[in-house]
Amino acid sequence: MERTFLAIKPDGVQRKLVGEIIRRFETKGFTLVGLKFLKVSRELAEQHYDVHKERPFFGSLVEFITSAPVVAMVWEGDGVVAAARKIIGATNPLTAEPGTIRGDFGINIGRNLIHGSDAQETAQREIALWFKDEELVNWQPHLTSWLR
Ligand code: TYD
Repeated sequence: MERTFLAIKPDGVQRKLVGEIIRRFETKGFTLVGLKFLKVSRELAEQHYDVHKERPFFGSLVEFITSAPVVAMVWEGDGVVAAARKIIGATNPLTAEPGTIRGDFGINIGRNLIHGSDAQETAQREIALWFKDEELVNWQPHLTSWLR
């Protein structure tokens, strides 16, 4: 079953949007299989954003993500990687569609509330980076027959 990695960034936590953000994935029908609340170390932040290390915003991105706690999650479901990216919206909240998380709640590209893996291979890398195997719960909700 396909899985993706999502993280509610420090601004999402500070702005009390944790419940609202989780609700969107939960009511859509995806299944939560991993969840933790943590202050991100510089080492984890740099590994997570390694692909951006030559970009001018890398330093401020690492500062931001390590500045306050985040909610790290793994969600499961058919097509969850691409669907979560749609639910999250475009990188820049000013151009993200209304109805998306970033489109509804953000105005600043550096404060865009949530991270979501951009492809299945990225999701596998990010899940392994943030979670140990034993921190992920293999389960099936009983009511899936009403969804699919
Ligand atoms: P990116 O992976 O391009 O976006 P997304 O989060 O939508 O997959 O960029 C990672 C994060 O870097 C992005 O969420 C916010 C930050 N960022 C900036 O601060 N400035 C920028 O110009 C870009 C492209 C990203």
